[in-house]
This record gives sequence, C-alpha cells and structure tokens, in this order.
Amino acid sequence: MANIKKEINKRRTFAIISHPDAGKTTLTEKLLLFGGAIQVAGAVKSNKIKKTATSDWMEIERQRGISVATSVMGFEYSDTKINILDTPGHQDFAEDTFRTLTAVDSVVVVIDVAKGVEPQTEKLVKVCRMRNTPIIVFINKLDREGKDGFELMDEIEQKLGLHVTPLSWPIGMGKSFKGVYNIYNEKLNLFTPNKQTVEEGIEFSDINNPELESYLGDSAGTLREELELVRGVYPGFEKQKYLDGELSPVFFGSALNNFGVKELLDTFIEIAPTPLGREAEQRFVKPDEDKFTGFVFKIHANMDPNHRDRIAFVRVVSGVFKRNTPYYHVRLDRRIKFASPTAFMAQKKSVIDEVFPGDIVGLHDTGNFKIGDTLTEGEVLKFKGIPSFSPELFKYVENADPMKSKQLAKGLVQLSDEGVAQLFTGKHTGRKIIGTVGALQFEVIQYRLLHEYGAKCRYEPITLYKTAWFISDNKEQLEDFRKRKATNIALDKEGREVFMAESPFALQMAREKYPDIKFYFTSEFEEK
Ligand code: G4P
Repeated sequence: MANIKKEINKRRTFAIISHPDAGKTTLTEKLLLFGGAIQVAGAVKSNKIKKTATSDWMEIERQRGISVATSVMGFEYSDTKINILDTPGHQDFAEDTFRTLTAVDSVVVVIDVAKGVEPQTEKLVKVCRMRNTPIIVFINKLDREGKDGFELMDEIEQKLGLHVTPLSWPIGMGKSFKGVYNIYNEKLNLFTPNKQTVEEGIEFSDINNPELESYLGDSAGTLREELELVRGVYPGFEKQKYLDGELSPVFFGSALNNFGVKELLDTFIEIAPTPLGREAEQRFVKPDEDKFTGFVFKIHANMDPNHRDRIAFVRVVSGVFKRNTPYYHVRLDRRIKFASPTAFMAQKKSVIDEVFPGDIVGLHDTGNFKIGDTLTEGEVLKFKGIPSFSPELFKYVENADPMKSKQLAKGLVQLSDEGVAQLFTGKHTGRKIIGTVGALQFEVIQYRLLHEYGAKCRYEPITLYKTAWFISDNKEQLEDFRKRKATNIALDKEGREVFMAESPFALQMAREKYPDIKFYFTSEFEEK
C-alpha cells in the first residue's frame, strides 16, 4: 500500500487544450524537452492535423495513425511522473478530445495573446467546467503584439466563465517584450529573444525597490502600476480553489522561445492534482484502493485494413494493473487477460508489467471494447463521466449493397463503439442516423466501411438541429411526448431515447409544452 501511495503522489495526468495554432504542439514539445524525453526541438512529429488537410481526409486518418504514438506522452521530471494526453487539434475530432478530458485530472489551456479566447477554447473549457477540472491558463506568443493583459483577463472571465488569478504578469509585449514578473514566487524573468536556454528568475520581492529600473528602464513604473491593479482586482491564489475548479492561475510566456515554460511546469507539478478517484454508478472509487479498476476512454483502430485490431486506451483509476492477469470486463461479464499491455513513455511504446493509478495503459483489442467500458478485479462497476454529446451534423445512412447488409450493420456498430461517430436508430422508422461533430467523419466512415468491412453506404440528408436526451418523473407528460413526437424519437446505441429536434425552435417548443421533461445535450451531465 505504501508503495502505491508513493506512485500516486508522484503522478500528474493532464491535457493541453487550445484552439488550433495557439501553440499546443510547441508547448508540449518544450515540456518534453524539460523532461529529457526528447533531445531536440521538432521531435514531436506534428500530432496536429494541418488545416490544409481539410479536403485530404485520408491524410488526416494517416496522421491520426501516427498520433497513436503521441496519444499519451509520459515522462519524468523532478521526481514526478507526468502524463500528457494529446488531444486532436482538428475541430472535426472534438469528440475525441471531450472523451480524453475524462481521463485527465487537470488541464492547461493555451491562449494566443493576439487572438484571445477562440471558439474551440470555449467549447473545450465548457466540458472541463462541467467536471470541475482544475485549469491553468497559459497565454502564449508574448513575443508578438497582442491584447493587453487586463483585456485578456476580462475575456477569459467572460467567455470561459473562469475566475482567474494571474501568477505572472507580462512586461510589455511584441518588440518591447521585456519578460514577466512571477507573482507566485516573486521573481523577475527577463526575456531575450531567440534564446532557448532557461535562466533562473531574479529574486525580486519588493517591486518598489528602485533597482527595478536598472532591469526594466521606463517599463518599471508601468509594471508597478499594473501589479497594484492586479492585486486590487484579482483574488490571491488559493490552491484548494484551484483544485476545486473555482480559480484558474494564469501564466504568460512564449512557448516558441521557451520562455515562461519552466515556471509553468514547476508550478504545475507543485499545485496540480495527483490522480483523482472517479465516480462509478455504484460508488466512488479511490485511487489508493488496492484492487485494480480502470476505464476505456479511447479506441484507436489499426491503420492496416487487413488487421482489424485496435488499441484500447485504459485510464487506471485504482490499484495496480498487472500484465497477464485476468481482469473482469464488466459489460461482457467475462475475464480477459492481456499479454502485452503497452505503456507510453514519451514517444516510445513498450510492454509493461505494472501500471499505476493516473497512468494510461494501451490494450490490444480485437473488438471486445467500447468507449466507456470498465475493467475490475471482479466487482461490478460502471464509471460515470464518459458521456455522449449531441452531434452537430446528421445524415441518414442507407445500405448501398443489399448483399452486404450484415457487414454494414457490424461496421456501423464497431465504428461507433470506437467513437468515430454516433449511431442512432429511429424508434418508429428503424432508419439509421449517423451523427458527427465534423463533416469529415462522414467520408471517413464511408471509406472505412468499404475498406475494412466490404460494405457500401449512401447518405441521405436529414434536417436535424441536435439530439437531446430526456428524462422526467412525470409519466403522463413523458407518455404524451413519446406519442406526439414518435417520429422524432430515436435510440442511441445504448438504447437510450433521444429527441431529434429539427430546430432550436422545436426544442424550445418541446421544453415549453412539457415543462416536467428535462432535455440534455449530453447523455450524463447537466449543462452549466
Ligand atoms: P497548435 O499545436 O496549437 O496548433 O500550435 P503549434 O504549436 O503548432 O503553433 C502554431 C504556430 O504558432 C506555429 O507556427 C508555431 O511555431 C507558432 N508559435 C508557437 N508558440 C509561439 C510563440 O511563443 N511565439 C510565436 N511568435 N509563435 C509561436 P507555424 O508557422 O504555423 O508552424 P511551424 O511551421 O513554425 O511549425
């Protein structure tokens, strides 16, 4: 037990999220450099999907294949084992990102100083807030002209709904960027462009000391004024509030110039949560319980169509996962053992014997796993918090080759288990509907059905705004709703009913007419 507690305490599992191009890949790379996990910049093969690739979705799939290697990057830094879970940059794969966020204990949000809060950042932070995930904000590209610090704080508070406390503050920006004052450890960090070496900050607890002028010249006065304002306006940092998801520390820097990254990392390992337990439908599971439990949050298909095997990514919640041990697959009600579980250390994958809470283990899968599946030592548990989100684009899917209907049905189920898209079945009509967050997935599905399952499909348009899961204690209203809206009700792949709202108006009407029915855009959470 002592051993497992020690292993838990040294782990930090998190994701970096951002709108594409804010600097997530660059920041990840700099963090890996600190961990000694890579030796040179540029070693993180672009795990982001380039914007130019929108028409070239096969290239996107190929890159997704490559990204198995960078899906989880584990490294050691200062007696800490850090796991960075990568999230796809392309917004068409936002749902992958949502699910990955269920497997982390905290996040770092990267914001471009010039662009401020962008749409993808808003969406992702909203998902984090539903789970009260602790959030650190890193404002990047201070070597460029951008928005004023206070303006950015306002934007973060308003658009992201976060309460912020700056732990560092910029001194100028762009051409006149001089560095940051680290409020947290009272140090002055001076910026030298294009210098990748990291220098320790200068101790500077009394900013009224006239020596500040010798470092900053005229900017010293501005810094004093701004810091006074910062102290007056924002609450002081309180670790517990951060851990509860109620207060977000903010750092400023430039990932490309390796500036402000070490301060971020050092503060991160000091304050970020160690692996947390998870709520299961039956009970709360604590990380230091001695029995192993874990859940599947991601499934990655083999890129080779001749091998329809996959890797299931399991987040270890409690206990120690051991190689060649038969674990209980709760949904299938049977035991499975794994001969070659994979650990992810930086970019190498290697077979591992023991995996601890907070870590991710990759399991070779021939079709036994669905996203959200739970593994235990025998206890019947189902972890919560891996919801489905309402897709944004919908199409009817029809069989285009009558000889291959079985293959089509199987392919659709397996691809939706993998999380490529969501599959709904019209309750009344029996017609299959595919829902996605991005247009690309429709092409990906068609291609994969043909190449992996030998099935052909055709799409037909459907007018749908969103699918809303619904519940109510009022049986009468529920029955009436089911009767009147029969043609608009479908079943998701777990057999749960969803209301297929044709427009925001249709949903509003339903809400007004059936006040006792609650409609949700996610299958588990109440939206905030
Ligand atoms: P992403 O993963 O969030 O999509 O962003 P990525 O790190 O790929 O960064 C996007 C672009 O922003 C890259 O330039 C990168 O070099 C640049 N960048 C990242 N951090 C900084 C910074 O601190 N300052 C400045 N000035 N630029 C930064 P690119 O030209 O699009 O790509 P590349 O050809 O340099 O890779």
